[in-house]
Amino acid sequence: VNREQDQLLDLHEKAAQLYHHILINTPAGEPARRYLQKRGMSRELIEQFSIGFAPVQRILTPYCNQQGLDYQLMRKSGLFTEDRDGKLQDRFIERVMFPIRNGQGRIIAFSGRLLSTERTDLPKYLNSPETPIFNKRRTLFNLDLAKKAARSDGRLYLFEGFMDVISAFGAGVENGIASMGTSFTEEQVQIINRTTKQLDICYDGDSAGQNAIDRAIGLVNAHQNGQLALRVVQLPAGVDPDEYVQQNGADKFRAYVHDREETTTDFYLRFLRNGRNLDNQQELMTYLDAVLKEVAVLDAPLEQDMYLSKLADEFKLDKAALQGQLRQLQSERR
Ligand code: GTP
Ligand code: MN
Ligand code: MN
Ligand code: MN
Ligand code: MN
Repeated sequence: VNREQDQLLDLHEKAAQLYHHILINTPAGEPARRYLQKRGMSRELIEQFSIGFAPVQRILTPYCNQQGLDYQLMRKSGLFTEDRDGKLQDRFIERVMFPIRNGQGRIIAFSGRLLSTERTDLPKYLNSPETPIFNKRRTLFNLDLAKKAARSDGRLYLFEGFMDVISAFGAGVENGIASMGTSFTEEQVQIINRTTKQLDICYDGDSAGQNAIDRAIGLVNAHQNGQLALRVVQLPAGVDPDEYVQQNGADKFRAYVHDREETTTDFYLRFLRNGRNLDNQQELMTYLDAVLKEVAVLDAPLEQDMYLSKLADEFKLDKAALQGQLRQLQSERR
C-alpha cells in the first residue's frame, strides 16, 4: 500500500466517523434515525456496519478544509463532486451512508441510500466512483466479516442488496455478501472461489431476481471448474431477504435459507417453466429439451437418474425414452 492509498483509506475512515456521528448524535440525523428505525434496523447493526448519514447541509468539504487536507487527495477520493472552476463539494447529501469495506475490513467507498421515496429523479443508491482504492468489479459488500463466518458454515450467501446482507447478518446469517449494484462479475466469482467451497445464491423473489439467478449461475459455471458448489435459495414471490426478515423474524429466516437450499438443476426445473404452458405438447417438448440440457451437465449418474425419475413421474413419461434423449444430448456435447 503506497502513501496515497494510505491517505485515501484514512480519509474514508474519518468520513465514516463523521457520517456516523451525524446520524447518532445530532438533530440533523433525526430523519435518518427515524427511517432506519422504521426499517427495523437495530442500534447494534448500525454500529456493526458503521452506518451514517450525510445531511443536506454539506459537511465533509468544510471538515476536510479545516483539517488542511490536500486538494488532489480530496479529488481522488470520489467523495466530492467538482464544479467547472474545480471547486469541490460533498458528493453525498441527504443519504443514509453505508461504508463499503475491502476484504481486510478497511473502508474504501460508500453507498448512499435516499431517504425519500418521492425523489424518483435521483438514483435510490449512489455509489462512490472508481478510485485508486475502489474497484467495483472486485468488491463484495461484507466480505471481511462474511469470510470469517463462512469458515464455520462452509458457504457464502450472495444477496442482491446491502440491506439484505445487513438484515441477514442481524438474523444470524453473517456470511452474506452482495455485489455493488452493478451485475455480478468474473472477478467476484474468483474471489468467492478462493474464499469458500459453496455459494448459495439468494436473490429477490421477483422475476428480475430469477433472471439474475440464471445469469449468476451462468457466470459462475463459466469461470470455475466445479470447485465451487452452487446452490439456490428461492425466496417467496415478491419479497427480498430484508423484507422476509422484517415480516417473519430471524428464526424463520434462518430456517428458510437452511431448508430451501436447492441445486441449480432444481432451480432450472422451475425457472424454465416460466411463460410456458406445459399442458401444450409442443411447449412441454421444448421445456423437456431445455431441462434435459441442464441434467446433461451433471456428472453424477445417480443425480441424473433422480431427475429423470422426477420428470417421468410428473409428466407421466417413459423414463427409458427420457434416458435415450439425455444420451443423445450428451453425445452432442462431446
Ligand atoms: P431497499 O429498497 O433499500 O431495500 O434496497 P434493495 O436492496 O431492496 O434494492 P433493489 O432490490 O432495488 O436493488 C438491489 C441492489 O441494487 C441495491 O442494494 C443496490 O446495490 C443496487 N441498486 C438499486 N438501485 C440502485 C440505483 O439506483 N443505483 C445503483 N448504483 N445501484 C442500485
Ligand atoms: Mn457509534
Ligand atoms: Mn430487486
Ligand atoms: Mn431488493
Ligand atoms: Mn429491499
